[in-house]
Amino acid sequence: MIEENPMRTTSTLARTLAVALLAGAACTGGTSTGDDSVGDDDDTPVDEWDQKLAEREYDYSAALRIASLRLTGKLPSLAEVKAVADAGDLAAQKVVYESFVRNYLETPEFSVQMVGFWRDTFKMGESAMLDTAPVFAAQLTVENRSLSELFTATAGTCPTFNPATGEFTAADCDNGVTTHAGVLTNPGVQAHFFSNMAFRRVRWVQEAFACTAFPAELMETGVDLGGAQAYTAPWPFESIAGASNGGTVDFHDTSAVVCANCHATMNHLAPLFANFDDAGELQTTIQVKTPNDGAPDAKLSDWLPAGEATAWRLGVPAADLPALGRAMAADPKVAECAVARFWDWALGKGDIVDTLALVPSEVIAANVAAFQASGGTLQDAIFAVYTSDDFVKF
Ligand code: HEC
Repeated sequence: MIEENPMRTTSTLARTLAVALLAGAACTGGTSTGDDSVGDDDDTPVDEWDQKLAEREYDYSAALRIASLRLTGKLPSLAEVKAVADAGDLAAQKVVYESFVRNYLETPEFSVQMVGFWRDTFKMGESAMLDTAPVFAAQLTVENRSLSELFTATAGTCPTFNPATGEFTAADCDNGVTTHAGVLTNPGVQAHFFSNMAFRRVRWVQEAFACTAFPAELMETGVDLGGAQAYTAPWPFESIAGASNGGTVDFHDTSAVVCANCHATMNHLAPLFANFDDAGELQTTIQVKTPNDGAPDAKLSDWLPAGEATAWRLGVPAADLPALGRAMAADPKVAECAVARFWDWALGKGDIVDTLALVPSEVIAANVAAFQASGGTLQDAIFAVYTSDDFVKF
């Protein structure tokens, strides 16, 4: 598959399904008049939503159908459908429904679905090397292991998967890395998102695990530097390289856009990924280029001035990829992003970044808190979403 920009790749099937489901049963807002033009109603949208949400009723039969499709790729069996329908009152239906959801999570089909989910999330897969990262994430999910292992595991980070049996076979990545850091050191990730100055790898990390496009760090009040826009990143402006402090790309440019709004964070991350070559092998020297004439190799001074250290965020230094992994594992925004991605998947929305299918923090606050309290166990998080009121009420 040749893609000019792999970050925009999503499975067409997943997208089509998501759109179809969004237009259908899983969407609670589908009964409006169809006239959403500005100024045609006096109600604030919040009131309208609150009212619609309050009108929803439990429907475990409908929920079972969607849960089965998402978690196993198949419709529920007739016996399952009847068992829920004939269970009796809502409390009894809930018990039966939840036991079926538990069962789905134990099937080989669920493993297959998880590989698909993480391929879509990571925007990569379907070749042996490109599958290692999504398969590792799927294995963590199926085995109810912690999200933090996705960024901190030092062994078994390139497993293989047998779709016929749903079995994972642990294997180490073999790309020259001494201490692995989950998917952050994965050869497929490094190869697939190879680009000038390693910025595409950085973008992948941000969008897959923090669920927003750059800029990643925003101050409420920007600083007017006399440019096209205000400077809104919290970092000192001179903490990244530019024409005035030794860089060959001017990240201090403010004439059309303020590069530093995004690149303040990005330039503190990119050097961590710079020594992987286009095949995903770690080398001892920088392997990425600048877009300058002749495509020279990038130098550390192209991202950061002398003495400036790499970091995940301002105040969260990360000297190497294992340190970055620990920082990400400790970031509540990363935990919230994982829950939000499960949420959007369950409710049939598209990719959270591409479609701006943002889940308001307060809607999933309880799920995120439970997720963090559990130590970030991934299958528990999925069970919680599929059994939450928002999933089983229509
Ligand atoms: C809104 C955020 C944002 C702003 C503002 C921004 N960039 Fe970037 N930049 C990115 C992202 C994200 C990428 C990685 C894109 C990809 O490869 O998918 C990138 C990539 C790059 C690259 C590598 C592109 C290549 O492959 O050749 C350079 C060089 C760069 N930016 C310089 C700049 C400069 C100089 C400015 C200001 C004039 C700027 N950027 C403004 C987000 C931004």
